[in-house]
Amino acid sequence: MKHLLKLADLSKEEILTVLNLADQLKYERKNGVAGEYLKGKKLGMIFQKSSTRTRVSFEVGMYELGGYALFLSNRDLQIGRGEPVEDTARVLSRYLDGIMIRTFEQKEVEDLAQYGSIPIINGLTDYAHPCQVLADLMTIRECKGSFRGLKLCFVGDGNNMANSLMVGCIKTGMKFSIACPKGYEPDAALMTWAKENGDFTITEDVSEAMRDADVVYTDVWASMGQEEEKEKRIKAFKGFQINADNMRAAKNDAMVQHCLPAHRGEEITADVFEAHADEIFEEAENRLHAQKAVLCKLMK
Ligand code: CP
Ligand code: NVA
Repeated sequence: MKHLLKLADLSKEEILTVLNLADQLKYERKNGVAGEYLKGKKLGMIFQKSSTRTRVSFEVGMYELGGYALFLSNRDLQIGRGEPVEDTARVLSRYLDGIMIRTFEQKEVEDLAQYGSIPIINGLTDYAHPCQVLADLMTIRECKGSFRGLKLCFVGDGNNMANSLMVGCIKTGMKFSIACPKGYEPDAALMTWAKENGDFTITEDVSEAMRDADVVYTDVWASMGQEEEKEKRIKAFKGFQINADNMRAAKNDAMVQHCLPAHRGEEITADVFEAHADEIFEEAENRLHAQKAVLCKLMK
């Protein structure tokens, strides 16, 4: 594993190795025996979009591992004024030991990896959110014991989260179903891959998708960069909400996951969110452990 650009690049074994290390790092932290595995290492964090969890968990993660993280806002970098990614990559590679980037186009992340000479981590693009899904998989395994026989249902927009969850679930042997409105499906090539490599279904019927699900997942209807489509999307996604009614279609002990931030009353009702708050905030905590594992795998 040289980079984390998207989950599709990782084998099942690589994913499980990261998750096992994440479990170990969580245990070490809880028991006060965490090692400084990245002493003196420096991570640059480029943000072209807002962030709470990704920024804080990477920064705290590097600190806990004995390293240092630099927050690099697009507004301050020359990249925001048009300096090419290929030049930025070659310059930053001479100062840093790794880069985490949150941006719009997946191509920008791939270009950083191509032109730089240090590990690149995708901290969210319009196409993928691999760090989030590693934390999700960690949380699911923690809660359910294993991935065997599990079904995850995603309700909502076929966005970066849906794309990465689809890949993460199929690679770990879970069934993946998605309920989304016409015109808001996940990436077509990824859906073809999912159909060929596992148990994948897509429908406009939310209860049908949620039937017997072990994990129910949702995300915002309008992602970062889609603020102007908000009203149009609220109309398009009416009915694609997780609520107490359709939760009855899932298994009795189904867990609910949300990458956050959440919009109560839109993609999820406040009562379902609060009933599953422990699982959702454990998932948020696991961003820290899963990313520390990724950092160790790439930078140690
Ligand atoms: N889930 C997630 O990536 O959150 P942030 O946008 O706050 O980083
Ligand atoms: N789909 C959301 C995820 C936020 C973590 C977005 O891209 O804004």
